[in-house]
This record gives sequence, C-alpha cells and structure tokens, in this order.
Amino acid sequence: MAHPLKLHVVTFGCQMNKLDSEVAAGHLVEAGYVATDSSPEADVILINTCSVRQHAEDKVWSLLGTLRARKQQRPGLVIGVIGCMAQKEREHIRERMPHVDLVCGPMELDRLPALVEEVRQRHGPVLAVGEGHVGHLPRVVARRPNRFQAFVAIMRGCDNYCAYCVVPTVRGREESRPLAEVAAEVEALVADGVVEVTLLGQNVNSYGRTLGGRGNDTRSLLCEAPERAVDGKRLLVSFPLLLRRLDPIAGLERLRFVTSHPKDATDELFRAMAELPRVCPYLHLPAQSGSNRVLRDMNRRYTREHYLERIARLRETVPGVEVAGDFIVGFPGETDAEFEETVDLVRRVEYQNCFVFKYSPREGTKAAELPDDVPWATKQERNRRLLAVQKDIMRRRNAAMVGRVLDVLVEGISPRDPANLAGRSRANHIVAFPGDGALAGRTVAVSITDSTPLTLLGTLERQE
Ligand code: 5AD
Ligand code: SF4
Repeated sequence: MAHPLKLHVVTFGCQMNKLDSEVAAGHLVEAGYVATDSSPEADVILINTCSVRQHAEDKVWSLLGTLRARKQQRPGLVIGVIGCMAQKEREHIRERMPHVDLVCGPMELDRLPALVEEVRQRHGPVLAVGEGHVGHLPRVVARRPNRFQAFVAIMRGCDNYCAYCVVPTVRGREESRPLAEVAAEVEALVADGVVEVTLLGQNVNSYGRTLGGRGNDTRSLLCEAPERAVDGKRLLVSFPLLLRRLDPIAGLERLRFVTSHPKDATDELFRAMAELPRVCPYLHLPAQSGSNRVLRDMNRRYTREHYLERIARLRETVPGVEVAGDFIVGFPGETDAEFEETVDLVRRVEYQNCFVFKYSPREGTKAAELPDDVPWATKQERNRRLLAVQKDIMRRRNAAMVGRVLDVLVEGISPRDPANLAGRSRANHIVAFPGDGALAGRTVAVSITDSTPLTLLGTLERQE
C-alpha cells in the first residue's frame, strides 16, 4: 500500500481560525492523513487565512509565492487556501496564484475533507466559497493538540457591521450553535481530560439571539435555572444562561470566553461571572477608540461614557476582575485630540493587556468608503505611544501583585525561558516559576516574588 499522505496546516489569524484548522486537520487525520510540522515533506498543504488587516493577507500572498516552485517540482502536491481570505479574494487567488488547487471559505469548512479528496481524484482545481450556510465540522475530541485546554466555538459569523471590519463579509451572518450541542461538546472534552474551556465567538454576548425561536433545551434548563424562565414555560437562550449550564460540569476547572461587545456587556453577564465559580474573572472588552466621534463612525453603538460605566459596574460586581482591550489607531479622520481621548481611556481603565492595531482599510466595508487620511507614520507613532502608556500601566499593576499567592494552571515549560514553567492565573496573568514539567495541566499555588510588565515571576507554594 502507498504510504499515508502527509498534511501540513499553516494558520494565520484569530483563535477561531486556529480552532477551524484543528478541527479540519482532525477530520483529515481520521480519514488517514498524517499531520506533519514540516511543510517540505507534506503532500497536502492547507493555509488557513485571515483578512482582518492587509498585513495578514500580504503574508499569505508571499507564502503562496514561495510555494509556486515547489508545486512545479511536485505537481501532485495539493495546495489549499481556506478561511477568511479564501472567501474575500475568491476571484483573485487562482488568477494570481494558479498553482493553488483548492479555495474554501469559512462557510464551507464542513466540506473540506471531501473537497481535498475531490482535488486529489480530479487533479483539478476546486472552488468552494458559497454563502448558503455556516459550515461547522463536528469536533474530533481525540485529535486536539492540548490535552487539558480547548477552544469551543459557540457561534459563527457576525451581525454587528463595525464600519472597519471585514468579518461579516467573509464569515457571514451570525449563527449560534444550539445550547445542547455546545454542552455536549464541552462535556465530551472534559471527560477526555480538558480542565479549561474557552468559548469562542465574534461577539459571545449575543449568543442565543438566533436560537430564541427554537426554545431548544428548555426543559432541562428550566430545572437547572428556573429563575431564568421568561414566561414560566420558555427560556430565552442567552450567553449568561449558557455559562450557567456549563459551569457545573464536573471536572471543568476554568471557563473563559472571547470576545465581548461593550454594547451587549450586561449586568446579567457580570452577575453570572461573579456567581459562577468556574467562570474566570477576565473580560476581553474591545473599546476600539476613546473618542465618541470615532466610535460613531466605527458604528460601535456605544459612547466612551457607556464603556467606562460598564467597566466600573464590572469591577464593582466581579471582584479581582481583569480587563483586556483592542484599539484601532488612525481610523479615518482621527485627529490628535481624538487620539488623546483614546490615551485617556486607556489610562482610566487600566487594562491588564491591550492589543493595538493600525487601521487598515478593507474592501467592502463602510469605512473603506472614507479616505484613509491618517499618514502611515502617524499611525505608527500613535501605535507606539499607546503601547508605551499601556506598558507603564502593566509594569505598575504587575508590581502590585508581588506578595500575592495565585492559583496557576500550568501550561508547560515557558517558551521564553526553558528554566521556568509558565501558566496563567484565573484572571489571566501570565506567571512563570521554576518547577517540574510534569505539572503541566495541574493547578498549583504560586507565590509572586517579582514582576515585569508582561509576566509575574514566582515560586511554588509547598503542596500539601
Ligand atoms: N484595521 C485594523 N484593525 C482592525 N481590527 C479589525 N478590523 C480592523 C481593521 N480594518 C482589529 C480590531 C479587532 C481586532 C480583532 O482587530 O481591534 O478587535
Ligand atoms: Fe479571524 Fe476576523 Fe481574521 Fe477571519 S478576518 S481570521 S474572523 S480575525
């Protein structure tokens, strides 16, 4: 028999993309492929792409360019472009890169194993960029890369239409997965040794909106959370309700979620975070800007005052909670004064971590109709300045953690320093400390002795 075909997957972009890659690869491995980290050895190369900024797309074009020669040497090699950029650039990929065999958008990923097979049988190109439904391959529990942590998609697509964002165009309309299906997946993962689950969605707070009419799972939920009944008979499926359903799963230690939209960050969510012991006190709540004019033109549908009020309420409700944020600098028309409002917001909120991006116009979005008038050098300077402000905050906040004892889920040997283990606190602080690699997957108490802006350093408390 011929040797098993080798599969190599390259992933760009967000956690959702990493999960899509993992699930797709899991199915191909089930079908007999062998996963490899070595691209030159692979018989099938899949590139899972991101379109959120031009830079992400440029990296893919350049990688595809380097694969041209390899395909000439080995015509049997299958090269697939999947994910967001496959959808957005569907007409151009094969035009610019005729050596690509497969183009498969994020809404067709459930067909991916069959499509790869089709390419191999036909020896011809296959294009799958339909928009009819949201493709979701079932999870292959046994094939995940990490035995104690897992991501679970609870919804797909996005209906928010932020003016700068390409996601609704490439990933389609928002669609929530049925609650029972999510719960069954989490239960299966936990039964298989997962202790930390991160729920994924473009805007997890609107989870259930597309399930409202179906009333799925109402009976079991009525028993578990009778106070959530809306009219005594039917429950409105919501994100806090999902958290309440998942939290009691025996063996689950930590429940996290990303990402939340400030307009949907409700008191009910904060109460669930405070009350549920597994839900971690950490909220990624992208503000994007501190200027009301910019927020309006971004179509974010909240003001800086609303955002700050939400943060205050969150901190009041959830003790020890940490907050992370995303910001875009250099949005069309952003003046120095408007940027200073963003700096001011960052100072006021005191984030644990901030992700700062230079505005990148995306074709097909509302903002792309506006002139991209902030010069590149100004974007770069604002990016640098905001990160510098944030770094000072992190330095100060991390220094204040010295002397505390934190529960740390050990992730393994520190990638930055092989002499240390690295893990995370419940509030998502990165903690490094000396210890035995066999502790990976265990939660240990670490006494914090020192800090840098990014990391807390500590020593293991004696285990009883
Ligand atoms: N340009 C720059 N940054 C963007 N983001 C989304 N779209 C763009 C864009 N066109 C950022 C937002 C979002 C994060 C995932 O990427 O901050 O929260
Ligand atoms: Fe993820 Fe958005 Fe990039 Fe698609 S475009 S990979 S959804 S960040």
